Amino acid sequence: MQKIIASLFAAILLMACNNSRQSSSSSIVINPYNYTVVKKVVAENGAVVSAHPLASKVGVEILKAGGNAVDAAIATQLALAVVYPNAGNLGGGGFFVARLANGEQVSIDYREKAPGKAHRDMYIDADGTPRTDKSQDGHLAGGVPGTVFGLFTSCKYTKLPFAKLIQPAIDLAEKGFVITKREASSLNNLQKDLKKYNTIMPVFVKDKWNEGDTLVQTDLANTLKRIKDKGAAGFYEGETARLIVEEMKRGGGIISYEDLKNYNAKPREPHSFMYKGYKIIGMPMPSSGGLLVHQMMKMIENKNIGAMGFHSTAAVQLMTEAARRAYADRAEYMGDADFYKVPVQQISSDVYLQERMKNYDPAKATPSTEIKPRILTGKESEETTHLSVIDKEGNAVSVTTTLNNSYGSRTVIGGAGFFLNDEMDDFSIKPGVPNMYGAIGGEANAIMPGKRMLSSMTPTIVLKDNKPYIVVGTPGGTTIPTQVFQTLVNILEFNMSAEDAVYKPKFHHQWLPDTLHLERGFPTSTKDALIKMGYATRERGAIGRTEIIRVLPNGKFEAVADNRGDDGAEGF
Ligand code: GLY
Repeated sequence: MQKIIASLFAAILLMACNNSRQSSSSSIVINPYNYTVVKKVVAENGAVVSAHPLASKVGVEILKAGGNAVDAAIATQLALAVVYPNAGNLGGGGFFVARLANGEQVSIDYREKAPGKAHRDMYIDADGTPRTDKSQDGHLAGGVPGTVFGLFTSCKYTKLPFAKLIQPAIDLAEKGFVITKREASSLNNLQKDLKKYNTIMPVFVKDKWNEGDTLVQTDLANTLKRIKDKGAAGFYEGETARLIVEEMKRGGGIISYEDLKNYNAKPREPHSFMYKGYKIIGMPMPSSGGLLVHQMMKMIENKNIGAMGFHSTAAVQLMTEAARRAYADRAEYMGDADFYKVPVQQISSDVYLQERMKNYDPAKATPSTEIKPRILTGKESEETTHLSVIDKEGNAVSVTTTLNNSYGSRTVIGGAGFFLNDEMDDFSIKPGVPNMYGAIGGEANAIMPGKRMLSSMTPTIVLKDNKPYIVVGTPGGTTIPTQVFQTLVNILEFNMSAEDAVYKPKFHHQWLPDTLHLERGFPTSTKDALIKMGYATRERGAIGRTEIIRVLPNGKFEAVADNRGDDGAEGF
């Protein structure tokens, strides 16, 4: 019975993407062997920003072919699954936030789920030792992938047939594309792990990758073709499901046919709030991002931060203290609201947030032990990817999608050509034990079969005068909400251009570890002043890769791709 329902659902999902959609017969042609990286465009008709120039080009070609921002977002995600295997994916999950031209606000949760055989202590040895090696790499680290279901769920809002949206990705996988220096280096660094965590050596294994090499992914092209022909069932059932389950058997993973058939993405009510007349629309649980940004912005709203000045000691300190308090709440209260009662209203209420800031002292750091006493250390590692899209009809789409770590579990599904996520590490595998981002949690984010792990992904849309004004998001693990927060404050309070708001050095605090991370290039005078106030600082490399579109007063779209990576902006 369940099988019949699942097949019916997949068929309905496919129909939703094809139903009486008109499309020009011309196919989208992208030159994958010779392309330029464009960092900023000002466009009149539509724009796409993503982690890879080829994926952004695919999105814009879809807009030119008559698609809307949702069509473009789907095609861009599929292209990213080919040209940006670090984080673009079929084997992961993500969040979709949209503000449609008709005023509708949409969010779709296609976060991975814990497999049916998962249990609370699955990463704890008999002697109590937490095994983050198993939650972070290899077959057992994988949650049930959600991306394909999410794409078909968002098809409800598209104009073009799905076949048209997926074809550029098939072409890119089949014919290959030329890799950049950064991609070559990242694949070279991956070789040891690929050999360790794969049962069948994938196409990514090579003695040495060089800038200019062509990466052809035939297995992935075939998986994409099955999705094109059969819809969501081309992934969650049949040959692809068989390849996933066989891979699990060979490598000791636990994702089953039942898990795949039973997976569903969920449309959810977006998490929205007002900030000084702007409406900020974000993702609800299981994203902590929408709520964290809400908390942080409301904690600073009445402090006149604009007058303090960008990167001033006072402004950075205030934002850090807001982040410290919000992230303490993340660890305690946030998780999948389908499984745990998250007190969203209470911890985002003005009364609560003003109370939370009562012990804020503008003259010195508040030790995190005074906010919530726990002790841990943490390390950094973060990969996820974001795309922002806007069209001239007034549709805006903000999508963040992830495999968790760069290349996820490092396991490629044999014969299917895509990386499996390592999203199980985003659960709290044991209370107080940090995940790969140094984040801790407890009951709210404990593992349960079918539950979605807490996420930091923060796809966000800001409305001004009830029209899309900013479309923004970034990868970066637990640094995501603080970066979105800073980018918004940079524009809304410090009146910065989108370019400056993204490119200027960022900072990050997440309560525990009690460390203020400062991106290389952060002003030394502010850093020294913060140290004197009691902050333990740590300099680090790039914080995230923010992709932003801002609507200018003349109605044009200012689209900016982060300069911390190969990211590209396209528009027309
Ligand atoms: N895996 C990163 C996140 O969802 O926060």
